[in-house]
Order: sequence, then C-alpha cells, then structure tokens
Amino acid sequence: MSCIRIVGGRKLEGEVMLQGSKNAVLPILAASVLCNGKVVIKRCPNISDVRELLQALDSAGIKSSLRDGELEVDTVNATPIFFGPEYAGKTRGGVLLLGAFLGRFGEAGMAYPGGCVIGARPIDLHCKVFRMMQAKLKESEEGVTVKGKLKGGKIKLPYPSVGATENGILAAVCAEGVSVISGAATEPEVTELCRFLRKAGAKIRGIGTSVLEITGGSRLHGVEYTLTGDRIVAGTYLGATAMTGGEILLRGTEGVCMKGIFDSFSAAGLSVSRNRDCIRLHAPGKILPIKELKTAPYPGFPTDMQSQMTAILSLAEGESKIYETVFESRFGVVPELKKMGADVQNEGRCIRIRGGNRLHGETVYATDLRTGAALVSAALAAEGESIVYGDEYIDRGYEDICKTFRLLGADISETDEK
Ligand code: UD1
Repeated sequence: MSCIRIVGGRKLEGEVMLQGSKNAVLPILAASVLCNGKVVIKRCPNISDVRELLQALDSAGIKSSLRDGELEVDTVNATPIFFGPEYAGKTRGGVLLLGAFLGRFGEAGMAYPGGCVIGARPIDLHCKVFRMMQAKLKESEEGVTVKGKLKGGKIKLPYPSVGATENGILAAVCAEGVSVISGAATEPEVTELCRFLRKAGAKIRGIGTSVLEITGGSRLHGVEYTLTGDRIVAGTYLGATAMTGGEILLRGTEGVCMKGIFDSFSAAGLSVSRNRDCIRLHAPGKILPIKELKTAPYPGFPTDMQSQMTAILSLAEGESKIYETVFESRFGVVPELKKMGADVQNEGRCIRIRGGNRLHGETVYATDLRTGAALVSAALAAEGESIVYGDEYIDRGYEDICKTFRLLGADISETDEK
C-alpha cells in the first residue's frame, strides 16, 4: 500500500506554477461530447479524476490523448452507453455525462456517481432539472436512465448545486427553445463551462450570474480552450506555506475568483499580495484564530478549503470555529489532526479548534481528497516524521503534490513502506 512520508519542520520557500482547475476541466470534458470536431484543452491537470473520466469516455467510443498538459478529445464515434459503477462510481464529475449524453443522443444512463465520501451527495436536483426539460427518468437500484427530446423552459433550482447547474447547462444547450436557469450556482468553474460552450458556438447569456439564459439548438463546433488555475490547489499551497513559516510565489493565477479564500486568510492574519498572473504569500509571525467561519456557495468561503483551514487554524493562538454548511459529514480531518496533537473536535456541523498546540509527526489516514491535502500540510509543519495514507485520494485533485512540495524545499516522498 503506498503512502506519503514527510519529515516536517522545514519552511516552504520558492515558486510554483499552478495546475489547471479540476472542477473546471471535468464539466468541460463532458461538454466536449456535444462538440462536432476536435476539442483541445490546454493546461489540463494530469490527475486521477481526469484519467477516470477519460476512461469512461473511452468506453463510449470517445478517444483522447493527454500529453504535456494538452488534452485532445475526438467525439466523432461517440455512442450512448450505460455507464456502470466501474466508471460512474469513481468520480463525482462523471454525473455530468448524463446531461452531455442526454443532450447529444436523447438518452443517457449511469450507476449512481461516486467521488469523495463527504456526505450523502444525492442527485435529486440533477433529476429535477432533466424532468423540467421534459425528459423521462427511471431510477432503479442499478442507477438512473433518462430519455427524451429536451424542451427549454423555466428551471428554478432550490439550492445552487454546482453539478445540477452544470448538467442543466449541458442539457439546455441541446434543448429546443430557450431555457432560463435561475438559482444557478455561480462558482467560477460553472462560468468556465459556459465560456467553453460559448466558444464552441452555444448561446448563453448571464454568464457568472445566478440566472442563465440559454438558447438551445446551436450546432457546436470543435474548439481550443485554456483552463484557468485551480483556486483550491492555490489555497492549499498558500496555506501550507503559512503553516511552515516560509514564502511562496504562485505563478499562473491572478486570484480573481479567490475572494472567499483571501478573506479567510486575512482574518487569520495571512496577507497575500497579487500581481499580474501571480500571488505571493509571506508567512506571518503568528496565525490568528477566526471566531466564526462558514463554508458557503460561491462567492463565500469554499467547502473545498475547509479541511485545509482547520489545519491552518490549529496553529493559531486561541479558539476558532468553522461551520460546514455544504456537506453534512465533511469532518474526516478532525480525528487525524487530533492524533497529531491538535485540539480540535466537531459537534454537529461545527468544528471547534483550540489552537496553539505544536503538531507532531504521526501516521494518519485521509478518507477524502481535501483531508489528504490538509494532513500533508499539517505534516509539513509538524515536528518529526509523518506517514499519510490515502494518497490515492490526493491524486484525484493534485498533480504530483510530493514533487511540488519538494520543489519548495520539503522533505516528502511517495513510498510503499509500512
Ligand atoms: C462540486 C465540486 C466539489 C465542491 C462542491 C461544492 C466538482 C466535480 N465538484 O460538487 O468539489 O465541494 O461542488 O462547491 O465540481 N445536493 C443535493 N442534491 C443534488 C445535488 C446536490 O442535495 O442533486 C447537495 C449535496 O449533497 C451537497 C450540496 O447540495 O450537500 C452541494 O452539492 P453540489 O453543489 O451539487 O456539489 P457537487 O457538484 O457534487
């Protein structure tokens, strides 16, 4: 069983080129199914969530190649299939193949989607969106199938689900007439999906807002698209540097969509300076506690930074509280940080952190992607050796995390030991 070995206590110092965004590339890959012609996605991260989705596409006749960050996708020979648990069960992004295949072929089906174990993650809102477009749905133990000639209309989301918004967009682009999706998620990754589709010929208005107006039926063509940097990976590397007391220059991001993260950083006394295309963070003398921080849909503090922030605040002098409002059981980081010496516990959806204890090296287990990133960050700041299991989760979203931290001076390696 592989794991990550870290000897903590070294300051992180240096420059990193930020990888492209995971949560943008997954819906864009699904959207490529709708394009007639070659799709080229530049700055594509080589992470397992992308590789899993490419395998699923391959099983439906879609060929692709990923070389040096450039992904080419050819969907000419695509055929609709039922995506079994071997594909659907692995990544949450796979659920977007429903909207894409339904849009292109008028039918789609898959086993219930997987992803990180951070909550129930139902797909009722996705199904509701398809129904509102006149599709017929069948749910069974095996999964869900959806069929029909899609018609545009008024689609109101009761909660701004990122995935349901994206599935709605994919379906609406192919539907007859105009669709108005209100209560839509406004995450930057939804905006990127819209920009990609518009570049491919789709008619979408209201991009970046919670009301999207989509005129369906345009024939989409091949397109070349460059992804923006991954804002959560950026937040992770900046946060880890703050924890070790070093200085980092993160290239390849202007940080324009990171206000929620930067606001929380600034409350913790971490100041970043931004220039064209880069962000610099110089670790402060001390990290400050945050009385109350709540995760929220964009532009709020992202749930995908909650575990890393819990680790950061475990080093602050004083008491902090983080409320997890998005996923009901995203607390995997708590028991593991405790093992490393942090005074942290969760009651219901609230994580209470009494900071200031020194962290020590430990054997810890990640059960989801961001817990993994948070534990690696904590181990970099801890005294002594840590072993982090669950590197397969980290690989879902971080392109070679060990190499990146080594470049910044850390003593970290992947190993098969223990
Ligand atoms: C996406 C991101 C994930 C991020 C999350 C919230 C991808 C691949 N993943 O996940 O990294 O943490 O947004 O920013 O982009 N819900 C329902 N019914 C549904 C759909 C969602 O109840 O049909 C609930 C979920 O259980 C969750 C909340 O809504 O509690 C938010 O989920 P959603 O915004 O849909 O997240 P994902 O698209 O799964």
